[in-house]
Amino acid sequence: MSNVFGPEYVRAIAPYQAGKPISEVAREFGLEEAAIIKLASNENPLGMPASAKKAMMDAMDDGGRYPDSNGFELKAVLSARYGVPENWITLGNGSNDILELAAHALVRPGEEVMYAQYSFAVYPLATQAVGAQGISVPARDFGHDLPAMQKAITPDTRLIFIANPNNPTGTFLPPAAIEAFLEKVPKNVVVVLDEAYNEYLDPDLQYESTDWVKKYPNLLISRTFSKVYGLAGLRIGFGIAQPEITGLLNRVRQPFNVNSLAQAAAMAVLKDKAFLEKSAKLNADGYHQLTAVFDEMKLEYVPSYGNFVLVRVGDDDEAGARVNLALLKKGIIVRPVGSYGLPKWLRITIGLPEENAAVISALKDVLA
Ligand SMILES: Cc1ncc(COP(=O)(O)O)c(C=O)c1O
Repeated sequence: MSNVFGPEYVRAIAPYQAGKPISEVAREFGLEEAAIIKLASNENPLGMPASAKKAMMDAMDDGGRYPDSNGFELKAVLSARYGVPENWITLGNGSNDILELAAHALVRPGEEVMYAQYSFAVYPLATQAVGAQGISVPARDFGHDLPAMQKAITPDTRLIFIANPNNPTGTFLPPAAIEAFLEKVPKNVVVVLDEAYNEYLDPDLQYESTDWVKKYPNLLISRTFSKVYGLAGLRIGFGIAQPEITGLLNRVRQPFNVNSLAQAAAMAVLKDKAFLEKSAKLNADGYHQLTAVFDEMKLEYVPSYGNFVLVRVGDDDEAGARVNLALLKKGIIVRPVGSYGLPKWLRITIGLPEENAAVISALKDVLA
């Protein structure tokens, strides 16, 4: 009798490598936790807003009860904000949950799921978890090559993940290019448009993807409260799609996938315009702070539309790992991206001005 558990396609999965936690780096390198700077997971450097904390405290009394499985109040707020009915919205335990629900609900083992080279690591993971075939389409200028992706569609393609802006490269697809793609994708192929970093776009680049959901029954938009809204630790995101897809996601989700504190915090932060504006401004200023020095240092970087920058730290395939280790020893955690096929590069989350200054100074030392 075989003692090998589980299907081969699950055993073949390389587990997701998260940004190193501060406590782990402190232990490993004998550093004080308070002196460590973490710019590795594209979190909001301002942390959770006070408005969300207060809403959570108020919701705490109900902690003995299950959360609202249907997220009635939060969906009402999202419905008014995005101009879609409540039954077009799915709440997720982070937007990661939405991505996985899409794979579980829409793809059978052996079918194809497409994504771009250098795109979010969860797309291949969600694909492999359902025994599907991942099709990675070569990037163009570090971003999605939509015409090539369209050509790569086969009768077996069921799902296409597109991140805009993209992680880990920070590239941006103009709305006209996305709409032209949606026009050409066969109606039986679902496109997941993952807009985790949407709120960081300059106002003149913002676009209304929710209008497309009304037009394209095969489109699922994914959004998160983890980035500009500052709620990464609470795990809450949402999907928007027409009722047919939403109904399928609802069938495979855990009944209580989003906890009550997260629901309360999300409602509060949606109203906290001041926090959002402050976060976006801090990010824009930090981007200029970092990239001005990269220009000075003649370091190549990919122009970014998110809250992070991909920067090349050497010419050899050990450069990313080597510079990452040297930064860790100085108490600075960034993200090596060798596992994304970018071994010469590091992804640095934009932090507070003093955190950006610290990473710049450390990089100057390490690269000298
Ligand atoms: C492109 C993209 N999508 C989705 C996520 C998942 O975020 P969360 O599950 O916290 O909403 C991330 C997180 O880094 C991301 O970069």
